[in-house]
Order: sequence, then structure tokens, then C-alpha cells
Amino acid sequence: MEIIKRPRRLRNNGLVRDLVRETKLQVENFVYPLFIVEGENIKKEIPSLVDNYHLSVDKLIEEVRELRELGIKYVILFGLPDEKDEFGKEAYSDEGIVQKGIRAIKENFEDVYVMTDICMCQYTSHGHCGILCSHGIDNDQTLEYLSKIAVSHAKAGADMVAPSDMMDGRIGNMRNALDENGYNHIPIMSYSVKYASSFYGPFRDAAHSAPSSGDRKTYQMDPANVNEAVREAALDIEEGADIIMVKPALSYLDVIRKMKDTFNVPIAAYNVSGEYAMLKLAVEKGLLDEKAIVESILSIKRAGADIIITYFAKDLARMLKK
Ligand code: PBG
Repeated sequence: MEIIKRPRRLRNNGLVRDLVRETKLQVENFVYPLFIVEGENIKKEIPSLVDNYHLSVDKLIEEVRELRELGIKYVILFGLPDEKDEFGKEAYSDEGIVQKGIRAIKENFEDVYVMTDICMCQYTSHGHCGILCSHGIDNDQTLEYLSKIAVSHAKAGADMVAPSDMMDGRIGNMRNALDENGYNHIPIMSYSVKYASSFYGPFRDAAHSAPSSGDRKTYQMDPANVNEAVREAALDIEEGADIIMVKPALSYLDVIRKMKDTFNVPIAAYNVSGEYAMLKLAVEKGLLDEKAIVESILSIKRAGADIIITYFAKDLARMLKK
């Protein structure tokens, strides 16, 4: 008699399924993005990012308190300055909006780990991620500015910096600058593999950071490339990146897996604004059950991401508690 092989035995009931589950989401995997604005008493929902807000520093503290109650301890800060100029001065000012936000969180919470996005596009009048010159972006001059921003965030109390600009040589330059200024203990999480993606649409609305002319294709990567991703990540690790990131996540699960198999450093993935908006709307409209959120974030972890930056962090924390 032919013996039937029975893999269903390990799916028979919830207990055995729990026992053999290969990938588990934990609230410690999530980093929640926060958008800080000047002013007081401001908590304004971002239209393109339902349930995410523009927060003044006082309201930021309330939001972080809510995150802590949900068990979320990791945040990444983005700033929306009142003033923009060619050189993004507000990005490295001691009184810049992110610097004020970092200090406030650090004064109020002992167990919140503050990461900061290092980029210029929210701060420059032209909306590009660097200093402009006659032929586009002046890569090497931009490095000095990015490093200044990183040092200024570290000085305000940031626990980790995350450069998202995609200029060449930024990690090495930033590592040196941090070390020379007494911050050799601050890790760098590099947005190593950041694609020129249409999935950032809602974020640009949230961060008021769309370029006023042209696009970001001379610095962000071509979505068709994966060998280039390996080259970018290898360079960043050589220059001193502690963690490498793939962004976006869901259309790039193969790239996440490639990073995990190729490099022996923690891998982060950014579940970006467009990915959030699509699924959030489908759930809100009743087209999908909210369990689809867990399934989709699980795919990012299963692909190899250790750290997941996601606007779903609060929804996930609630769902995982159930
Ligand atoms: C800044 C930055 C962007 C995102 C994170 N940091 C926008 C961009 O590069 O245009 C996108 C995040 C998201 O879409 O959720 N350079």
C-alpha cells in the first residue's frame, strides 16, 4: 500500500501550529516614524497617511506615551522646518525641529530608542537631498552637510542615525565626523538600498519634501537592479554602516533576502508610505480583513528583515496583543 506523506499533521490545531511556526513578529521588530512640526498643541492627521500625524513637540510626547503603552520603544524622527533654504540650514541647527524633538523625548522617557532620518530634502528650498551645483547635486559638498546633521542629532541625544540621501561616500564621512566629535558609540543604520520608487508618494505629502524640479534618479536606485544593491550595501558596510536597509520593502522582498544571505549585519526594511496607504485604505473600505496587515508585515520578516520601519506599528502592536 502506498503510504501517504501527511504534512497536515503539523497543522492539525492551533497548539501544534504555534509550536512549529517559523517566523514570529514581535513588537521589538517595529520602528514607528514620527513627523514633528514647529508650534504648540498641534496634532494634525496627515491626509495621505491615515492615523499618522504632524505633531508639535508637546503632542509628540503624548504620542510617544501612547506608543510606550502599546509596547513600542523604537521611533524614527522626521522634521518639517518652518524655514527652508538652499543649504538646509535648519537640519543642523541646535534649535532645529528634530533636535528639539530628540531632547524632549529623552527628557521624558528612559526606555525609548530614538533614531533620526538624516537627509536634506525636507530642509532645502529645492527639495533635493543635497547641495545643488551646475551639473545637478554636488556629491562631495553634500557629505559635509549630512555629517553636520548627524553630529547635531547625536549632540541632541539621538541613539542612532539613519542617512537616507544615497550620496556616495556618506557613511565613511559620517562615521569619521561622529567619531571625531565624541560619538563613536552611535550606530549608523544606512538606507543603503533605496530605490527611486513611486511608493514614496504619500510621504512627500507628509514631509513636504517633493523636489521642485526633476526627480531623484541620479541618486536613488533603479528598481530593476539587484546586483547594484549588493555593491551599494558592500560599500556602506566597508565604510562603517552597522545596519543596512532596503527601501521600499514589499516590492523588494527578493532584495531583502539577498541582503540577508550575503551580509552578516542586521537588515532593516522600510515598509513605506505607499505600501501603508494601499493596505490601510483596503482595510478601511472593508475590502480586506485587517489580518492582511499582519500577513504583509510577516512577509517582510520572512524575507529576512530584522527591523521593520512601519506606519502600521500601532495597529500591529494592538493586533499582536490579542
Ligand atoms: C527622505 C526620505 C523619504 C522617505 C524616507 N526618507 C522620501 C524620499 O526619498 O523621497 C520615504 C518614506 C516613505 O515613503 O514612507 N529622503
